[in-house]
Amino acid sequence: MRSILGGLMHTVLSSRSAFAKNSILEEERVVEALKKKGRRVIELNRGDPPAYFATPKYIIDAYVKALKEGRTGYSRAEGVFELVDAILKRYARLYGVKAQEHDVIVTAGISEGLHFINASLINEGDRAIIFSPYYNQYMSQLRMDGGEPIVERYDESNAWNIDTEGVRRSLSKLKAQKKLHKVKYMLITNPNNPTGTVLKRSVLEEIAGIANDHEVLLISDEIYDEITYNGASFTTMSRVAKGMPHVILNGASKDYDATGFRIGYALVPEHDRVSTQLKEKLADMARVRLSVNTPAQYAVAEAMNNVKEHDRALKRMVESIERSVNYATKRINENPYLSAVRPNGAFYILPRVDFKALRLKDDREFVDKLLKSTGVQLTRGSGFGAPSHIRIVSLPPKRILGYAMDKIDYFCRSNARK
Ligand SMILES: Cc1ncc(COP(=O)(O)O)c(C=O)c1O
Repeated sequence: MRSILGGLMHTVLSSRSAFAKNSILEEERVVEALKKKGRRVIELNRGDPPAYFATPKYIIDAYVKALKEGRTGYSRAEGVFELVDAILKRYARLYGVKAQEHDVIVTAGISEGLHFINASLINEGDRAIIFSPYYNQYMSQLRMDGGEPIVERYDESNAWNIDTEGVRRSLSKLKAQKKLHKVKYMLITNPNNPTGTVLKRSVLEEIAGIANDHEVLLISDEIYDEITYNGASFTTMSRVAKGMPHVILNGASKDYDATGFRIGYALVPEHDRVSTQLKEKLADMARVRLSVNTPAQYAVAEAMNNVKEHDRALKRMVESIERSVNYATKRINENPYLSAVRPNGAFYILPRVDFKALRLKDDREFVDKLLKSTGVQLTRGSGFGAPSHIRIVSLPPKRILGYAMDKIDYFCRSNARK
């Protein structure tokens, strides 16, 4: 029998859905097959702190308490006031940022916040400035919502700092072409995934100046704001962009070691026309999907309010990350085919690979062959806009990371052109 649906199947998907891709998870099928065969796989692809650091007990206890107290229904769509207040207190305590309850919209991770922002701002063909190497989800989400990226640069030869001259040139060109109105936002990541760079205050000031001069909304993803080391000091964009429209994205996933809780937030602290319209629209978006996980919100409120417990857990985690990142960077730079800028934030390393000296044609082949031959899973740099690179998640302790680094080292040497 001929099915009517069968006839439609080849056209049923939207063209935008083609952008629903995540290079970080693209080798999952291979990994499943390897594990089924009893092979050991070291997953250095996903930035998931709870895989190596148990979520602190005081946060788990708060989650269980919320469940036991029956906080299991839908919550206020923009987030329970207990969490919103904890977020406001956190930004005031850490950075002296003053904001109000209606300036915060709690989301199911930054991931949902990004979707809300694109759905609120982007018309078909509108553009957004994204810096490469980028967190890959920025690109998929923007494109899934009909936008087009303007790709600017973090400069590897300048410790992955922003090429501010490049951005200024592009914006001036768009202005001359009368296309500036199409540019809806400029998005930076600080500290950065995948480069591990903490941007200097002077760079942030330049970026804020450029955004201000061209009247472009600034968005700063600060999900790793408390994971800094090697002497780096973090500045929130909110301090620098005071008085101009901007959005801060943050959440519980990394600093609070709770990726699976799916709690993030957008903070829109200013009250100009753009900020006011945007935060009202983000709240509308939140109401459309009703609520985020209710008990998790209470748990994250406690996670933020109990500063003593948080600081203790964070210190332990960051010290361990610093040791792992520095160890892995040293091992990378000892290998003749790899080189990496030493990170000072987050927990990723983005080594450059000398493909000319290897019998591997590109980063995709590197990652695929490495996984199949050694069980070490990395992510290809091209997924982040950096095709000559590979990304290594440096969360595991030295014992596990050492094993993985031995495998990577041997893999490169055994694939060297003679
Ligand atoms: C820069 C950056 N932003 C956002 C996210 C996603 O965060 P969430 O778990 O809050 O959705 C990640 C996750 O790795 C990230 O690295």
